[in-house]
Amino acid sequence: MVTGAGGALGTDLVRLLREQGEPVTARTRAELDITDADAVGDAVARWADGGGDEGAVLLNAAAFTAVDLAETDPEAARAAHAVNAVAPGLLAGACVRHGARIVHVSTDYVFDGAGPRGRRGPDGGPAGYEPDDPTGAAGVYGRTKEEGEQRVRDAAPDAHHVVRTAWVYGGTGANFVRTMARLAGERETLDVVDDQHGSPTWSADLAAGLVALGRSGTPSGTRHATGGGVTTWCGLARAVFEELGADPGRVHGCTTDQFPRPAPRPAWSVLSPASWEAAGLPPLRPWREALAAAVRRHPDLLGRAPVVR
Ligand SMILES: NC(=O)c1ccc[n+]([C@@H]2O[C@H](COP(=O)([O-])OP(=O)(O)OC[C@H]3O[C@@H](n4cnc5c(N)ncnc54)[C@H](OP(=O)(O)O)[C@@H]3O)[C@@H](O)[C@H]2O)c1
Repeated sequence: MVTGAGGALGTDLVRLLREQGEPVTARTRAELDITDADAVGDAVARWADGGGDEGAVLLNAAAFTAVDLAETDPEAARAAHAVNAVAPGLLAGACVRHGARIVHVSTDYVFDGAGPRGRRGPDGGPAGYEPDDPTGAAGVYGRTKEEGEQRVRDAAPDAHHVVRTAWVYGGTGANFVRTMARLAGERETLDVVDDQHGSPTWSADLAAGLVALGRSGTPSGTRHATGGGVTTWCGLARAVFEELGADPGRVHGCTTDQFPRPAPRPAWSVLSPASWEAAGLPPLRPWREALAAAVRRHPDLLGRAPVVR
């Protein structure tokens, strides 16, 4: 079962499972509001009890992802708490009652973005965060996701996977890649933040990783999965220009201070893949290769019409 099936990740999860011939119960927000406890109980019962499948896995791709709105609008903050903190616990509890497992998706925003204390990466810079590094979200969205993780662990101690990811884009909905491609057509030059580091993650690659995790016998726990390698938003924007055949030199680096946003952005969003690889799960491909594959599958990411075959 996939909840949040209409979002970027949810769409790719459902597509992949259907391509693989896997029976999948897809629930968009309109079909299942995960904050509605009764509806969640009924939906999970119908799905998990109906199939008689020992390996039933619920993949929760639903989230309140309007990070800045959650920071500035109290009503949005309440909605973020309901969707990101409380609802994952409801889903996890329902899974346990019906013999299913849950794969729940979380975020780099649970960390403060200063990098793990006391560890350096091979290049002398900060190391990637490991799952057991202390969390400490800097903003509302991150705090709601942090609470959601814990509620999943508490409700389903032996039947959960929490997977933190970062910098997700895909064929569905608004995202950074789409925005950069549009701006390339509107502006001669662009200033893009060059002091925040992370790993762009194509939602289709993440979906494949989550499905592999759900099928594996990996013990319950918290793991990290992002595209391979590290860049900055400026680096990603330049790669989008390359994909467009435009001059990446038109993208100029700027600092976070020059581009203030309501919600604090982590300066260091790099999540170590060690926990993923140690579980024998397939690594997500390097972010630059993934971007090229993503625009091949979704030419509209670059503002181009899909090729009709
Ligand atoms: N995007 C990123 O950069 C990023 C980074 C790190 C982690 N993540 C995590 O990755 C996961 C997938 O995110 P995404 O990028 O696919 O986000 P997305 O495109 O915004 O998808 C989230 C989906 O959840 C749905 N939703 C919201 N409230 C709901 C509710 N009450 N009940 C059911 N569905 C609800 C949304 O529906 P509406 O559109 O109708 O509201 C949307 O379809 C989330 O857990 C997110 O926190 C994302």
